[in-house]
This record gives sequence, structure tokens and C-alpha cells, in this order.
Amino acid sequence: MSNAQVTTRQAFRRTDDYTPGTPKLKLVKEDLPLPLAPTSVLVKVHAVAINYRDANIANGGNPWPVLPNGILCNDAAGEIIAVGEKVKALAVGDRVGPIIDTEYISGREVGRSWLAADEDGVMADHIVFDEAVLCKLPVYLDWISASTIPCAGVTAWSALKGMSIGQTVLIQGTGGVSMFALKLARAAGLRVVLSSSSDKKLQQMREKFSNPPILTVNYTTTPDWHKEVLELTGGVGVDIVVENGGTGSLVKSMKCTRRGGIVSQVGYLSKQNPMDLAELVSTIIDRRIILRGINAGSKYDTEDFCAALSACQTPLDDIIDKVFPFEQAEEAVQYVWEGKQIGKVVLKL
Ligand SMILES: NC(=O)c1ccc[n+]([C@@H]2O[C@H](COP(=O)([O-])OP(=O)(O)OC[C@H]3O[C@@H](n4cnc5c(N)ncnc54)[C@H](OP(=O)(O)O)[C@@H]3O)[C@@H](O)[C@H]2O)c1
Repeated sequence: MSNAQVTTRQAFRRTDDYTPGTPKLKLVKEDLPLPLAPTSVLVKVHAVAINYRDANIANGGNPWPVLPNGILCNDAAGEIIAVGEKVKALAVGDRVGPIIDTEYISGREVGRSWLAADEDGVMADHIVFDEAVLCKLPVYLDWISASTIPCAGVTAWSALKGMSIGQTVLIQGTGGVSMFALKLARAAGLRVVLSSSSDKKLQQMREKFSNPPILTVNYTTTPDWHKEVLELTGGVGVDIVVENGGTGSLVKSMKCTRRGGIVSQVGYLSKQNPMDLAELVSTIIDRRIILRGINAGSKYDTEDFCAALSACQTPLDDIIDKVFPFEQAEEAVQYVWEGKQIGKVVLKL
């Protein structure tokens, strides 16, 4: 093992106090799991990206069980500072991030182990992982941008798989996954229809991504937004939807997707009322929709995505909404919980 001097770390662990207004995180100092196991590596973390999922877990809303007082967050970018004696694929100095489900390597595994839920997450200044669950991150990206790849980035990548130049995508909302989807759609030559609850955000996005222009629709002030999306596409519908609302918007999303098109179900941000799904089966059949469940991606997906980013040299700094210092993790999580961001919120260490 390479000789790193560090033996302890600082980490933010959840308080598991879900009372509104109380702290959701506690900064702790703790021993690192040393000596390193033969195939483990020690990573000095430079940036941690925050997702809706993290804010939801911190506030007790995760629909799946979580480790008591676990370390929050699953997205990190850092530099390897020590390796176990049998590590083969990685070396000191490599820039890496862990995948978010550490049992999802090729995509054919049957188990699952989610960071920040089944096991500790990454909101810490040092983390230790087996080399098998780490991916090399693109070298052209700074730490802040690179940290957004494993969850929001890979999810957007999985959601848009199979699209080809000239097709049209409906992207719902202006959060992290959506902004990544927007960047990928642009890189892939797709036409973008973007929805948001905020005219101000839509205006900002039209100005930021003006050439070629994006089409926009406000899903709050236009409750029948699917009809507007149909109009924007000459009555045909979009080729694919990055579906973020869940139960509340799924049927409408299908109604504005072309016959034979794809709806990638990513999120569950709306009020989840099963009554909203009354027309689900008839709409799927009528429009011959392919409904595709998205659950981030495997290690192989992450590697493919990093290769695509590196090939296109796609800048990601324009989808970073705000960078907080590590010490302000509590404020950063609350900011995401309130949905104030357009794109990504990141902690810098
Ligand atoms: N399946 C997966 O693999 C996967 C991976 C990552 C995230 N997710 C899920 O995907 C969703 C988005 O995650 P994120 O990290 O991008 O969240 P985020 O950064 O917090 O973004 C949330 C944004 O979505 C928009 N939104 C809110 N309610 C909506 C609704 N009812 N319909 C459409 N859009 C709505 C809002 O944008 P405006 O303010 O512009 O309206 C909001 O700012 C969450 O449900 C998350 O749990 C799933």
C-alpha cells in the first residue's frame, strides 16, 4: 500500500431528526477503515454533488430503507492517495468517483447496495472504496463538474440511450438530471422541449441555450401542458420524454409522445396519486409507448458516459447552479430541498 499520512476523516452524518427546521447533518471526525484491504483505495475528496435524493433522504422521505445516521450523498470526485497491495486498474493520482449502486457493475447483477442508503455515502473529506466500484473521471473536467457525473449524469445518459440526431426530447424541470439531459441532447443533436414551473427559469434557459433555440412550456400555468407539447411538435409528439413527475405526469407525458416513442421514467417529484394513472394502459396501447424505467446506471454505463463526455469535451460548468464550501453542507442540502437550483449544487472541499 502507498503510504498516505491520513488516518482520520471528517464526514457529515445524518441526524435522522426529521422535524422541520432542525439540523439534518452532523459533522463528525472518525477513523478511516485502515489498513486498506488489498483491493481498496483511499480517495481524497475534492467535490461532492448533491441530488434531490440526498435532500429527500435527509428529510426522511426516501421510499427505501437507509442506514441509521449514515453519511449522506452518492456523487463525489476525488484523487487516489493510497492503494491496497492488490489494486490493479487504478493508481495513486487517478481522478475517480464511485458508482452509486456498488453492486451494479455490468448491469446483470441481481443485488443492490446504494451509497448513502444501504451503505455510507461520500459527504466526507476522505473515502475508501474497492477499486471495482470506482470509475476514472474525464480529465478535461474540473472537480466540481466531474462530481456531478455518477448520479445525475449517468441517469440522464441512461434516459436518453438510443436517441439519434434530429429527434425531439421533452425534458421535465430544470433540476440536475434535467440539465444534464439538456446538455446531452444538445451534444447529440436533439431538439429540446423544456418544461418548468417557473417562467423566470424558462426565460433564463432560453437565453442561455439560444442557438439552436429550445422550446419551452410552463407545466404549472399550463395544466394541459401535454397539449402544448403536441402543438409544438406539429401534433406528432416528441420522440422521448425524460419523465420526472411520476404518477402525476406520466399519462400526460405519454399523450405527448409520438406513437412508438419512449418515456424514460426517472423521477417521482409530483404528488403520487394512483388515480392519475387511470388511463395508463389504454394510453400505452393507443400510442404504442415504450415505457422505460431508469435507475441511474451500471459501472459500464458510467464508463461509456465518461467516454462520450471526453470525446465531445462537453463543458458542464454552465449547469452548475451554486457551489457551497464543505462546511455549509446543511445549507446546501436545504437549498436543494427547496428546489431553488437550476442544475447542480456542489460542495467544494
Ligand atoms: N431513477 C433514477 O435513476 C434517478 C436518478 C436521479 C434522480 N432521480 C429522481 O429524478 C427526479 C429529479 O432529480 P434531480 O436530482 O434532478 O432533482 P432536482 O435537482 O432537485 O430537480 C428538481 C426539479 O424538478 C422539477 N420538478 C419538480 N416537480 C416536478 C413535477 N411535478 N414535474 C416535473 N418536474 C418537476 C423542478 O424544476 P422547475 O423548478 O424548473 O419546475 C425542480 O427544480 C427526482 O425525483 C429524483 O429522485 C432518479
